Amino acid sequence: MEAKNIVYYSSEPNEPQAIFPNVSLNRDEIPNWDKYPFSIPAIQGMEKLELHPKVTFLVGENGSGKSTLIEGIAVKAGFNPEGGSRDFNFSTRASHSELYKFLELSRPTRKINDWYFLRAESFYNVSTEIENLRVSGYGPKSLHEQSHGEAFLALAMNRFKGRGFYIMDEPESALSPARQIALLYMIHKLVHEMESQIIISTHSPILLAYPESRIYQLSDAGIHESSYEETEHFRITHDFLQNRETYMRNIMQIDQGTLDL
Ligand SMILES: Nc1ncnc2c1ncn2[C@@H]1O[C@H](COP(=O)(O)OP(=O)(O)OP(=O)(O)O)[C@@H](O)[C@H]1O
Ligand SMILES: [Mg+2]
Repeated sequence: MEAKNIVYYSSEPNEPQAIFPNVSLNRDEIPNWDKYPFSIPAIQGMEKLELHPKVTFLVGENGSGKSTLIEGIAVKAGFNPEGGSRDFNFSTRASHSELYKFLELSRPTRKINDWYFLRAESFYNVSTEIENLRVSGYGPKSLHEQSHGEAFLALAMNRFKGRGFYIMDEPESALSPARQIALLYMIHKLVHEMESQIIISTHSPILLAYPESRIYQLSDAGIHESSYEETEHFRITHDFLQNRETYMRNIMQIDQGTLDL
C-alpha cells in the first residue's frame, strides 16, 4: 500500500481532550442478545470506543448498525432521536432502539456551548420543526424553499456555532461532490478553530479523507479501527475510478449472461 502523503495529527501531544473521550457498552446488562439492537453483529462485538477529540467516523456496509449506534450515542447525550438540537422535542415516530440505555458515555470534559444531531433520514421533519418554531440562525431562506443539498449545507453553515458536540448520520447523502468538499471545510473549521467534537457515520470516501480523525469499521467481526486506505469506501472507489472500463465490461457481461459468477 502506498505511503500516505498527508500528515495525521491525531497523536500530537498538545491535542485538546475530547469533549466525550469514550463510549462503551455495558455488556453485562444486555437482557437479550438475540433481539434488535443487540443482535446486530457489530453491537455484539462492541466494548469501549475511544472517540477522537476532533472527528470519529463510523463506516460499514448498509445494515451494519451505524445509524443504530450513532442514534444510541445521540440519545444517551440527550438529543431527540429524530435529530435537531437538544431543544427539539418533537416526534413523528417512536422507533428508536433501547441501545442508549446500555451505553456509557464518559462525562464531558469541558463546557459544551452547542449541540446538534444531523440526520439525513429525518431532515425534512427537522426543517418543518425549525419553521414551526421559527427558530432563527438557519440562513436567509426557509429551509423548505431550498433544494435538499442547499438546505442541508445552509443548516450546517448557519446553525453550527462551535465549541460544540455534533453528530451527523450520512451528511453526504444530499450533497454533490463539490458540496461534500465544502462540508469538509466546514468540519475543519468546527474542529480546528471552534474546538468542537464530531461523530459522523458516512459512506463518502471524500468525507472520510479528513485526516484528524479515527475511523471505526462496523462489520460481522465487531467494531475495529481502520486506516483510510483500508476502508472499502476508499479501495472500491479508487479501484473503480482507475478501472472503470473493466468494471463496466464485467457488468455488461453479467447482463448478457456471459460471465460466470
Ligand atoms: N427498528 C428496528 N427493528 C428491528 N431491526 C432494525 C430496526 N432498525 C434497524 N434494524 C436492523 O438493524 C440493522 C442495522 O440497521 P442500521 O440502520 O443501524 O444500519 P446502517 O449501518 O445505518 O445502514 P445504512 O448504511 O443503510 O444506513 C439492519 O439489519 C436493520 O434492518
Ligand atoms: Mg444508516
